[in-house]
Amino acid sequence: MCGIVGFTGHRPAAGILLEGLAKLEYRGYDSAGLAVYGGDGSVHVVKATGKLKNLIEKTDNGRSLPGSCGIGHTRWATHGEPNEKNAHPHVSGGFREDSSDYSDTAVIGVHNGIIENYEELREKLQRHGYVFYSDTDTEVAIKTVDYYYKKYKIGPIDAINRMMVRVRGSYALALMFQDYPGEIYAARKDSPMIIGVSDDESFLASDATAMLGYTREVYYIGNLQAARLLPGEVHFFDLNGDEISIPKAEVTWDEKGAEKNGYEHFMMKEMHEQPEAVRATLDSVLREERMSPAAKWSFGAGTLDFSGVGLPDEYLESIDAMTIVACGSAWHVGMAAQYVIEELAEIPVRVELASEYRYRKILSPANAVVLVISQSGETADSLEALRISKQMGIRTIGLVNVEGSSIAREADKILYTKAGPEIAVATTKAYTAQLALVYAFAVRLAFVKKKIDEDTYRKYVQELKSLPDHLTSLLDGKGRIQWLAAKYAGTKDAFFIGRGQDYAIGLEGSLKLKEISYMHSEAYAAGELKHGTISLIEDGTPVIGILTQERLLEKTISNLKECKTRGAYVIGITNAENPLVEECLDFVLRIPATDDHFAGLLAVVPLQLLGYYSSVSRGLDVDKPRNLAKSVTVE
Ligand code: F6R
Repeated sequence: MCGIVGFTGHRPAAGILLEGLAKLEYRGYDSAGLAVYGGDGSVHVVKATGKLKNLIEKTDNGRSLPGSCGIGHTRWATHGEPNEKNAHPHVSGGFREDSSDYSDTAVIGVHNGIIENYEELREKLQRHGYVFYSDTDTEVAIKTVDYYYKKYKIGPIDAINRMMVRVRGSYALALMFQDYPGEIYAARKDSPMIIGVSDDESFLASDATAMLGYTREVYYIGNLQAARLLPGEVHFFDLNGDEISIPKAEVTWDEKGAEKNGYEHFMMKEMHEQPEAVRATLDSVLREERMSPAAKWSFGAGTLDFSGVGLPDEYLESIDAMTIVACGSAWHVGMAAQYVIEELAEIPVRVELASEYRYRKILSPANAVVLVISQSGETADSLEALRISKQMGIRTIGLVNVEGSSIAREADKILYTKAGPEIAVATTKAYTAQLALVYAFAVRLAFVKKKIDEDTYRKYVQELKSLPDHLTSLLDGKGRIQWLAAKYAGTKDAFFIGRGQDYAIGLEGSLKLKEISYMHSEAYAAGELKHGTISLIEDGTPVIGILTQERLLEKTISNLKECKTRGAYVIGITNAENPLVEECLDFVLRIPATDDHFAGLLAVVPLQLLGYYSSVSRGLDVDKPRNLAKSVTVE
């Protein structure tokens, strides 16, 4: 989704803004633009469609835009096609074709989000003489600020507040007013924005990665709040225009997390970071019992303890039902978690797509909790599902990767994955870290609810601790998957089948393949294929069976045989030492032996690699697949 940046200080702004936009490229975009105050009081706006390098070339790497205060934007088109007129920044006046310039730049702004009532507002502004040059809702928001600013002759914060009262929807807005050179104004509702400050510079961005090279001291601006940024100084205001104070926070993420470190793609780097992401995530809920802190990772030692993250045993004990709400891959984590929590802790778990949950009648059982899983913590549907649950008085837990994100701030309780910044659009390390954390949660819940005995509990904790090493060994054997991907690079369709948790892992494998290789693929519960979809199987169609649940193995193998009989090339991912596997399958990928409850976390890695190598074999943009955005902040 769109990325916004802002900078005010005492050195050239354009280069810093372009650098920030480059860090936000991963979010997905199709055009970009900059506005910078010239020293003479004028404001220069430059836009370019396509990749950021076009804007970099057009501005001679920012050198053609002198000035030390500016805003920038990468646009992921929602209202209006991706062309230069629709690209941000947008301004008060009209566009003059003759001079390729704007008639009035009193107010200039960039926006992430959606203004829902933009048509009604545009008509009103047109009645007041405003002429629109773009199809965007953003231009309407900027001109609405301009309207109040000029009509009532009020200051920027008052004009912004009037706009906030008038518009419906979501926004992270960064604005400049020509009468206030060197200052940036910001407003936020339901779209991500973070404000950073150093000794004599101030920054604004959609997320911290864009400013980590300059500062770690940040403010999380709240909903319906506005800000005024001066060099090294930030002031916050509520909707009444009264100045408010917001605590300063420190970003703990390592800047290196947002760099490729020698890997060809972020996705490959992030897959290799999985052992550490899972280890760090488990470490946050693993406590030593008798020995030194380091001993918790040694054999036989350590216990799970969620009290440090606000979920003491009494809280866990009181959970009698769960609803897991999420989108995309995070929803797949929920699907896998459902099997493990129900099996171990013996409580009913329902898994819902956030985009559906928010519009249905919610019937929550007594003593239930809603667990919202989200890497970014900003996904619009997931955030809304959280809010609806809270309004209904249901207890909420957020399971989030990004510190200080909206879901992290609004959930009653928060569990953090420790995956660090994830840049590739296709999630990998955040997914496995989420899975590891829900496994650990399920194990502790089962123990607290006395559904497993002490020995079984200890065994499970041991199994969890072995996952990071297993992940390392899996990644070491990636060569065979590269071969497989190259062999099937030209294939039309692929199918993933499994039962129980294996079905959930198949869903993720299928998404990984299609989102970055653009190859059609579907995941099915293994027993469901013959109810229609099997008609698509032709000679050579790859069918991938996930076979990690011993008690379901023979059933899924029979389903694979049904496909093989119809010409499919059958591939199996398994931890099983069962002669049937070699007998029936054309290609076997083995994963390290672990308890079946946790094997899904290992089985997904070959599937991630398959998606990755298929994309590479087809010469595609692995990290930034077409049409997709990393953080989906609109409904
Ligand atoms: C797929 C992927 C998406 C996200 C989904 C939810 O690889 O990354 O399906 O999982 O958009 O995003 P978050 O987890 O940020 O809520």
